[in-house]
Amino acid sequence: MANGLDDVVAAETVLSDVDGLGGRLTIRGHSLPELAGRWRYPQVVRLLLDGFFDDLPGDAELAQAIGRSRVEVFERLQPMLPALVPLDVYSGMRAGVALLPDGDTLADALLMIAAPAVLTPALLRGERGSPAIAPNPQADHAADMLRMLSGTDASPALVTALDTYLVTVCDHGLNASTFATRVVASTQAGLTSAILAGLGALKGPLHGGAPGPVIEMLDAIEAGGDAAGWLRAEIARGERIMGFGHRIYRVRDPRADVLKAVVRQLGAEGATGRRLAFAETVEQTALEVLRQAKPSRSIQTNVEFYTALLLEAAGFPAEAFSNVFAAGRVAGWVAHAREQQTTGRLIRPQSRYVGPVPDLVA
Ligand code: SDX
Repeated sequence: MANGLDDVVAAETVLSDVDGLGGRLTIRGHSLPELAGRWRYPQVVRLLLDGFFDDLPGDAELAQAIGRSRVEVFERLQPMLPALVPLDVYSGMRAGVALLPDGDTLADALLMIAAPAVLTPALLRGERGSPAIAPNPQADHAADMLRMLSGTDASPALVTALDTYLVTVCDHGLNASTFATRVVASTQAGLTSAILAGLGALKGPLHGGAPGPVIEMLDAIEAGGDAAGWLRAEIARGERIMGFGHRIYRVRDPRADVLKAVVRQLGAEGATGRRLAFAETVEQTALEVLRQAKPSRSIQTNVEFYTALLLEAAGFPAEAFSNVFAAGRVAGWVAHAREQQTTGRLIRPQSRYVGPVPDLVA
């Protein structure tokens, strides 16, 4: 029995490849450095969805269609916000997505692409007692998400930073949330059902729930002043150091340096720059502490460590970092769901029974 399905190849995919030994990520034949900071998120959405919808338009038309989908999500769910705001912002987003139609058309898919970007700012503003801001269908996707959060147009640097993040996390092989999405899609349930499985899996701190705790860790270390002591105490308590380690990467996650470079571009001199300099010292200390604590494992920095600094600099509260992760990953989830529906079969592994044996004499 492969505990945690370690090293089990459970699907063939044309979508992405995670080279854990080489530290490389390929998405539809493009390396991450080729895409991040160069392709805009709607273009990468099209790259991932290509071949799965007969009516998939070109880049420009798809970007406009995603804009219209943001408006449709807003119009459908704005009346429900009073019921969603009292939940934590991730659960509120998940509940909002559950209210969308459960179909398999491109229109259904684009509602999924749009939903996290619309619901997250609306729920955060609702928490503050501020009214939700309607989407602008003509706006760039990342720019509109930031505008719906703050009410003002974000700087081009901030828009590029968020867009680069969404592209960087858009797909990543058969991670837990993508696998969950494929399992549900394999039953021929609708896209919303499949995406809800992905949203459920992403929330966990071992997966997409990690970036928020990275901020808490940095704040705790800064307050205490002893990084090595704090980290050793966490490990001694059997805790995991958030932002480090990976099931596949045995070397540094290539996305960490992409995101670190974005944070550096955002504000070398300001608070962001000071936060980055401090985080880099914590990162080096954590790598050394982990090397000493787990000498048989290569535990390296993963995508979440610098995700935390980027999303903090973009103005998102730590409670919403996983929402923004979902806003990027949802494109991969939709593509994998369609790939499973069109080329896969029902996912139904075996299990080995180790429970009590019935009393045959009775
Ligand atoms: C993501 O799969 C993907 O592609 C995911 C992702 C994506 O894009 O979808 O890349 C996104 O989820 C990144 C990971 C975010 N999670 C965290 O940063 C949480 C901290 N990381 C760990 O929980 C852990 O590294 C995992 C869960 C990510 C991976 O762990 P594995 O490969 O399943 O290894 P394991 O849990 O079996 O641990 C092996 C040993 C254990 O020690 P022992 O019990 O053998 O003594 O390594 C230790 C673990 O305790 N270990 C850590 C550690 N990571 C592993 N110890 C302390 N801190 C850590 N971060």
